[in-house]
Amino acid sequence: MTRIAVIGGDGIGQEVTAEARKVLAVALPNLEANEYDLGASRYHATGEVLPESVQAELDQHDAILLGAVGDPTVPPGVLERGLLLKLRFDFDQYVNLRPSKLLPGAETPLADVKAGEIDLVVVREGTEGLYAGAGGVLHKGTSAEIATEESLNTRYGTERVVRDAFERAKRRDRKHVTCVHKTNVLSYAGGLWRRTFDEVATEYPDVTTDYQHIDAAAMFMVNRPQHFDVVVTDNLFGDILTDIAAAVTGGIGLAASGNVNPDHAHPSMFEPVHGSAPDIAGQGIADPIAAILSTSLLLDHIGQGEAATAVSQAVTAELSGRTPGEPLSTAAVGDRVAARVAEILG
Ligand code: NAD
Ligand code: IPM
Ligand code: MN
Repeated sequence: MTRIAVIGGDGIGQEVTAEARKVLAVALPNLEANEYDLGASRYHATGEVLPESVQAELDQHDAILLGAVGDPTVPPGVLERGLLLKLRFDFDQYVNLRPSKLLPGAETPLADVKAGEIDLVVVREGTEGLYAGAGGVLHKGTSAEIATEESLNTRYGTERVVRDAFERAKRRDRKHVTCVHKTNVLSYAGGLWRRTFDEVATEYPDVTTDYQHIDAAAMFMVNRPQHFDVVVTDNLFGDILTDIAAAVTGGIGLAASGNVNPDHAHPSMFEPVHGSAPDIAGQGIADPIAAILSTSLLLDHIGQGEAATAVSQAVTAELSGRTPGEPLSTAAVGDRVAARVAEILG
C-alpha cells in the first residue's frame, strides 16, 4: 500500500492541501495518507518545528505532500529553514523540479503567446548554494554590523543535478538544456557550474545547449519564454526564475513542484511553488491547482503514471472551462477536478 505523509502547514497551505487530498483520494483510492500538524500553530503550542521522531516517521513514507509553511506570527526563516529546507537537505532532494506549461484557459500577461507555446521545466538545485546556511554576522545590531552569506557549491552536487537535467532533456521533444548562472561575476561558483555543464554535455550529443546569465534569463523568461525547454540552475536563481515562469504561465496559483530524490533513498516532497499567502488565507479563494498538479508529479514519481495523467488531464479540462476574472472557490475547484479525475479513470 502506498503511504503518503501530508503536511498542510500554514495559511492557504492547509486549504489547497485539503483539495489536493480530495483529488488524490480519487486518483489513487488505495492510499494511506497520514496527516502531520507541523507549522506555525504547533510551533506556538510546543516550540517545536520538526521533532526528530516526526522526521523519522516522514522518512517511512513513499512521498510527502506539503502545502506551505511560513506565517507572519513566526520570525522569518524559523519554519522555512527548520522544516522545508531541513527536509529538502536531510532527504537529499537535490532535484527541485518546476515545470511551467501554458495550458489552454490559463491567463498569461504576455501578448501573442498561445497555449502550448510555453513548455519548460526548471531543474533547480535543491541542497546547496546560498541556501546552505553558511555565513555569519558580526557586531549584530550595531552600526558596524557585518553579515556574510556564502554560496556552497560542490562538484558532486553540481554534477548530479546537471546530469539529471540532461537525462530529462533526452526524454523531451526539443532536447535542449539552458544553463543559467552568473559566470561574469560569480567566478568561483559560476566557473564550477559552467565547466561541469560543458563536460556533462559532451556525454549527451543529441541534446543541444546554451548558457544565459541569470539577469538575461529573467528577461527572456518574460519576452521569449518559448525559447526554454529544460533549464538547470542553482538554488537561488532557480527560486526566482520559477516565480517568473509561473507568472507567465497562469500565475503562482498554478505552479507545481517536486523536491525529488531521484535515487529514492528518502521520500520526495511535492508542493506548490507558492507560499502560505497570508494576504488571502482563511477566505477560501486560493487556487488549489498548484497543489493538485503537485499530486500529479507525486503520482508520477511513485510509478502511478495513469493516475498522474488523469490528474493533469482533469486540470487541463478545469482550466479550459474557466472564465477569466470569474471568482473561484478553493473547494469548488477541488470538487470539480476530483469529479473529472473520477470520470477519466472510469
Ligand atoms: P506567496 O506565494 O505566499 O504569495 C505571493 C502572492 O501570491 C500573494 O499575493 C498571494 O495571495 C498570491 N498567491 C499565492 N498562492 C496563491 C494561490 N494558490 N491562489 C491565489 N493566489 C495565490 O509568497 P510570499 O507572500 O512571499 O510568502 C508568504 C509566506 O509563505 C512567507 O512566510 C514565505 O516564507 C512562505 N513561503 C513558503 C513556501 C513553501 O512552503 N514552499 C514557498 C514560498 C513562500
Ligand atoms: C520556494 C520557497 C522557499 C525557497 C522558501 C520558503 C524557503 O520560496 O519553495 O520557492 O526559497 O525555496
Ligand atoms: Mn520561492
